[in-house]
Amino acid sequence: MNLVIRRLEKADLAAAAGLQRACFPPPFPEDHLWQADHLASHLDVFPEGQFVAVLEGRVVGSATSMQISTEVWQARPTFDDLIGDFHLAGHDPAGRMLFAVDISVHPEARNRGVARGLYEARKTLIHDLGLDGLTAYCRLPGCQASGLPPQDYAEEVVAGRLTDATLTPVLRLGMDFVGVRELAWPDPESRDAAGVVQWKP
Ligand SMILES: CC(C)(COP(=O)(O)OP(=O)(O)OC[C@H]1O[C@@H](n2cnc3c(N)ncnc32)[C@H](O)[C@@H]1OP(=O)(O)O)[C@@H](O)C(=O)NCCC(=O)NCCS
Repeated sequence: MNLVIRRLEKADLAAAAGLQRACFPPPFPEDHLWQADHLASHLDVFPEGQFVAVLEGRVVGSATSMQISTEVWQARPTFDDLIGDFHLAGHDPAGRMLFAVDISVHPEARNRGVARGLYEARKTLIHDLGLDGLTAYCRLPGCQASGLPPQDYAEEVVAGRLTDATLTPVLRLGMDFVGVRELAWPDPESRDAAGVVQWKP
């Protein structure tokens, strides 16, 4: 398997935007997907924080990150407030935390360590920039179908009694579950909630 994790480049923009459609199908709101011009802005704003995974020459994964201050994170912002806009206006070059804005791996390339490679790149970046840690809001795509409230659902997943297609892998990638943030973004499958996860070196 020839898997390469590297920085996003301008030549990848169309492929990375296409990946969004494959990874976040309806009912995920289409207006919350990156378009190529958003990804181009990410390269302008924080090129070091944008990664892709290339498997056998094809872009199969992408991960967007930005810096935020600890104070902003502790104020429990919504996802939209945190990123500022889809061009990452909320990126704070002096921020001590890396915020994992999103990660996507093509359905045909899953369960082969692609997300693990992208997370390792983020952790290396944290080391290189001397940051304090990694934070994220994690989708809970099995929540609505479970019939459970988001907090109860996430606790079942953390305990290993339920498996979630996103929270379970994110926990296996070393993130610690901190709690649930309601109304983090419009995401019916997740009941408009997200798991709050973090990692410290
Ligand atoms: C979540 C996602 C990024 C995982 O990507 P991936 O490349 O398949 O993950 P990896 O192969 O690196 O697997 C990482 C770990 O999670 C486990 N895992 C992966 N998918 C899993 C699943 N559906 N259920 C349970 N465990 C899973 C793997 O076994 C591995 O664990 P291990 O190394 O301890 O054995 C991918 O499924 C995806 O793109 N989902 C849609 C987009 C999304 O929800 N993004 C997150 C937004 S918050």
